[in-house]
Amino acid sequence: MGGPFRDGASGGTLGPMQVVDGIRERASRLRRARSSDGLPPGPRLPEVVQLTSWLYRPFPFLTRCRARYGPIFSLRFPRLTIVAFTRPDEIREIFTAPTDVMYAGKANENLGPIVGTHSLLLLDGPKHLRERKLLLPPFHGARMQAYGAAIRDITSDAIARFPIGKRLELHTPMQAITLDVILRTVFGVEEGERFAALRAAIMELTNGFTAIAMVPWLQKDLGPRSPWGRFVRARDRVDALLYAQIAERRRALERGEAHTDILSMLLAARYDDGAAMSETAIRDELMTLLAAGHETSATVLPWAFHFLATHPEAQARAADEARAALGDASRPDPSAFQKLDYVDAVVKETMRRRPVIAGIGRILTQPFTIGGLGVPKGTLVSPSIYLAHHEPESWPEPRAFDPGRFLGAQPPSPYAYLPFGGGARRCIGLAFAHYEMRIVIASILARFRVHPMRGIDITPERRGVTIAPSHGMPVILERR
Ligand code: HEM
Repeated sequence: MGGPFRDGASGGTLGPMQVVDGIRERASRLRRARSSDGLPPGPRLPEVVQLTSWLYRPFPFLTRCRARYGPIFSLRFPRLTIVAFTRPDEIREIFTAPTDVMYAGKANENLGPIVGTHSLLLLDGPKHLRERKLLLPPFHGARMQAYGAAIRDITSDAIARFPIGKRLELHTPMQAITLDVILRTVFGVEEGERFAALRAAIMELTNGFTAIAMVPWLQKDLGPRSPWGRFVRARDRVDALLYAQIAERRRALERGEAHTDILSMLLAARYDDGAAMSETAIRDELMTLLAAGHETSATVLPWAFHFLATHPEAQARAADEARAALGDASRPDPSAFQKLDYVDAVVKETMRRRPVIAGIGRILTQPFTIGGLGVPKGTLVSPSIYLAHHEPESWPEPRAFDPGRFLGAQPPSPYAYLPFGGGARRCIGLAFAHYEMRIVIASILARFRVHPMRGIDITPERRGVTIAPSHGMPVILERR
């Protein structure tokens, strides 16, 4: 096993940089040669140390691996080897590979207890394609207008409670906003008792889940006070409320009422063979949309405010654009949020610098060649989102925060910019997330100046699968 590596040799006269590159390449080749299992080289630290570094210091750890081992390297964790890829060419090969070769569902298995076995995230092959086809229409860009008023109102109510001139840790209100957005627009739950109960049960469920998901031996019910016992009971409460909501929306549909929430669309949707979704499948997909769409947006938003607070020129420009579009209205028409080019560029650049998910996973169902390298069946291949976003060949001055690089311009390659993944598994919530984040950022900037908290060093910190700013992302707001 183990195919040939790409040769770095080039013809013509050698300049000093090429000589340095040549020495690096030779050193790198020597290190490669030492890899005994035929996979590309990687850190030789104990597996547990590699896993801990990847979990708790993902960005510096990945950056060191890239510098030392080149654009393809292996990470060895207990019972799992990952081969990471950072360049657009290899990432394209992964995203365009036949879907029966690259299984993503299998790589997401640890989410099973929360999203259920029917979840799009866990499916692979034809079952995944069939389900994805049904879930895509509610997320089409043209439908965003239908969710705009709800997102605007939720944001506006949250903003009204923001303290002025005092420390405000933005992560918590951003989580509250994005959770309420899912409850209203996806689940179709209106304010009231069920809304409050579902909100509380979901928060308990997701707060307790992170550690359990990472440590399978914790998944034993040792009574209502054990971590798994608490998790299972919270999940039962969420399920009971969800099934009640599904039944209510089904009755509304039968009465011919028109609702724009995604649950109502799923109830009306039909597979190609005319079958409707089962009750369990709907429950699982609702939990999938919650798991995939809540904490992700809730993490990009505080990062965006971190960059805006520390880049006053970018903040001033985004705020000017927001105020020109929204005017003085406390509840502007949702169409006002459609075209905010600079705010959008801020969101894109934020996700480039601080992707909330560091990498994507695909498990090979058969041996496959990527970048000229033969990779064996069963390996987890991973386009590294973070490193792809910092490849100097794709991004000039990769460490600078410069929203201007996205203004009126596409990324250098779709395989160099992948905050939403790619290929047949690309995030279905992309347009939804962009629209939501644009509304939240523009609404806040139109009303407040956002200042950083002096003396606090914001660093990336893992929260489950996402990587969030530390300290809850504290800022000080000043009214405009
Ligand atoms: C900033 C916000 C978000 C980010 C950064 C994000 C990122 C991602 C990423 C990296 C993937 C994996 C793609 C792959 O494996 O190639 C994914 C998949 C997915 N996302 Fe998102 N996401 C966001 C918001 C949302 C929202 C709002 C929803 C829905 C409400 C959503 C629903 C999904 C679903 C259902 C999948 C699975 C797609 C499949 O397996 O076919 N995401 N997302």
